[in-house]
Amino acid sequence: MTRVIASLPAMQGQALRWRRRGRSVGFVPTMGALHDGHLSLVQRARRENDIVVVSIFVNPAQFGPQEDLKKYPRPFKRDAALCRKAGVDVLFHPSPAGMYPPGFQTWVTVQNIAKPLEGEHRPGHFRGVATVVAKLFGIVQPTRAYFGKKDFQQLKVIERMAADLNLPVKIIPCPTVREAGGLARSSRNVYLSLEERLAANGVRAALRAGAELVKSKKPASPTEIERSVRSKLKRIPGARVQYARLVDPQTFGAPKRVKDDALLAAAVYFGRTRLIDNILIKR
Ligand code: PAF
Repeated sequence: MTRVIASLPAMQGQALRWRRRGRSVGFVPTMGALHDGHLSLVQRARRENDIVVVSIFVNPAQFGPQEDLKKYPRPFKRDAALCRKAGVDVLFHPSPAGMYPPGFQTWVTVQNIAKPLEGEHRPGHFRGVATVVAKLFGIVQPTRAYFGKKDFQQLKVIERMAADLNLPVKIIPCPTVREAGGLARSSRNVYLSLEERLAANGVRAALRAGAELVKSKKPASPTEIERSVRSKLKRIPGARVQYARLVDPQTFGAPKRVKDDALLAAAVYFGRTRLIDNILIKR
């Protein structure tokens, strides 16, 4: 049975009781519209903890003024049924007014690693993410929290924030879950038409081709690799490329040496739908 809790004090009270009884709590923060990617995080949390909490909160603070906050999918009944089926103990579903009451004025800002890529194209996004995740950690008091690598920069921002603020939670990075053609699972995929969905499989293919270039015996320069990936992405029908970057996966700045690990990350629009994906290149 999954209990739905909307009240912040009720959720925090329950979390403190679990903690007092020595129960481990696995936490999967989401914005709902759950898909197989979320469910893989829930399954892992289920395996590794006594209690599993999923939060569903479409966080206004992480959307820009021109972004899709209003139309973001909110299929709550379906999500609750999926949580029940997956054995979630508590579904935490706070309201925007509960999370950001009048007078709210404390924000969590991670500095350098939050500036490039998503930070550059979505100003204020990571401030909203870091703030809401810090608040959710304070309310749910998890032992472990699970995040997908599809949002690789988000994962690193949250790891940094949790370490810098000494939050007693272990951040667990989890693999990206993909559709058969390679498209990374995302709540925003529901916006895509069938043609766009098929075309969007090409994003993964372009990143993989870029990764091959990085790994080749005589790798091209980062700029040449980015140019090659961008031109492959541009050839996908209906694609509008926002960025394709090869960066250091720790700093998100330019890779220092060709021999180091690298992250190839891209953001591509199909119509009004913005998709991101990445590939971590291990050396
Ligand atoms: O990845 C998401 O769904 C959101 O950014 C998160 C981590 C739940 C914060 O709102």
